[in-house]
Amino acid sequence: MALPSPVSWDAEKNRLKILDQRQLPWKVSFLFCSSYLDVAEAIETLAVRGAPAIGVTAAYGVALSALHGEKKSVDLALKRLASTRPTAVNLFGALHRMKKRAATLGSKVLFTGLLEEAHKILEEDLKANRQMGELGQTLFPQKSIVLTHCNAGALATAGYGTALGVLRAAREHGKEIKVFVDETRPVFQGARLTAWELLQDGFDVTVICDNMAGALMQKNAITSVIVGADRIAANGDTANKIGTYSLAILAHYHQIPFYVAAPTTTIDYSAKAGSHICIEERDGTEVRTSLGSPLIPDSFPVWNPAFDITPSQLICAIITEKGVVFPPFIENLAKL
Ligand code: MRU
Repeated sequence: MALPSPVSWDAEKNRLKILDQRQLPWKVSFLFCSSYLDVAEAIETLAVRGAPAIGVTAAYGVALSALHGEKKSVDLALKRLASTRPTAVNLFGALHRMKKRAATLGSKVLFTGLLEEAHKILEEDLKANRQMGELGQTLFPQKSIVLTHCNAGALATAGYGTALGVLRAAREHGKEIKVFVDETRPVFQGARLTAWELLQDGFDVTVICDNMAGALMQKNAITSVIVGADRIAANGDTANKIGTYSLAILAHYHQIPFYVAAPTTTIDYSAKAGSHICIEERDGTEVRTSLGSPLIPDSFPVWNPAFDITPSQLICAIITEKGVVFPPFIENLAKL
C-alpha cells in the first residue's frame, strides 16, 4: 500500500485533507479542514506533526483564510497559526513566506496566489527530502543497523521524510538497512508512526522502549543513529523530540556516529545557540496517560517538554538538501 500523503489539497472542495496521525497505526482516517481555525487545531492536537509538515499545513491554513479575499482574515490566520506550536521553525518560515506573498496580492487573487505559494512550499519540501536522501545515504555503510527516534519520515514532511528519507535512499542504492525504532514516549511517534511507515515500505524494523537504546549499543548492535530536527541553531545545536539528547550522549559514549537530517528551512540563523530555542511544554495528560489509558492519577505532578536540545559537539554531521555539513558547524552552516 502506498503511504497516504500527510497533507494534501482537495481542489474540488477547496479544503485541506490531513491524515489523522492520532489514529495511526490502528486506523487510516482523514480530517478535512475548511478554515484556518480547523488547521490550527489539527496542528495543536498533533493530527499533523513534524516540523516540515507543520510548515506546509500552516501555509495551506493561511490560503484557506483568504477564500473570501479578505486581508484582515489572513492577518488573523497568521497570528492564530503562529500560536500553535513554538519550536519547529518551519512553521514560522512558512508563515513569513505566506505573509510576504499576501502583501503582493490584491483581494481578487488573494486566495489563488496564496494557494499557489502553499503548493510551492509543499513541492519544495518534497524535493529537499529527495536531495537530502541522496546526499545523506553516502554516510551509511552497505550493511547498517540504524537507531532512530520519533518520526522524521514521510508523515512528518510533505513526503519521503528527512531522517527516514535518508534510509529510504540508502535502500534504493541497494544497501541493507535494519532499523531499530525508539517508541518515543509520551506520544509514541516512533512506535506508532515510524514503525508503521517503515514496515509498509518493507524495512526490517524492531521497536524498542526508549530505555533500551543503551543496552542495544552496548551489544554493538547499532552502527549509526539518525534523527530529524525541529530547529537547528546557527552553531548546530539541535532541538528535536524529547529523548534525542539522551540518545546523542549514549551514541557519543559508544562511539557510534550520530546524524541529524533536516532541510535548510529548519535552520534558524537568528538563534545563536540551542539556549535561544523555545521548547514547547505540553499538557501533563500526555505523561499521565498512555495512548489514552490512565497510567498514573491526575493528581501526580509531571513535566512534559516536547523537545530537548542536543549540543552540536555530539553531532557528527547535519544532512541538508544543500550538502552534508560537518563540524565546525558554526562556519560550515553559515556557508549554506
Ligand atoms: O511533536 P512532533 O511529533 O511534532 O515532533 C516531531 C519531531 O521531533 C521530529 O523529529 C522533527 O519534527 C523532524 S520531522 C522531519
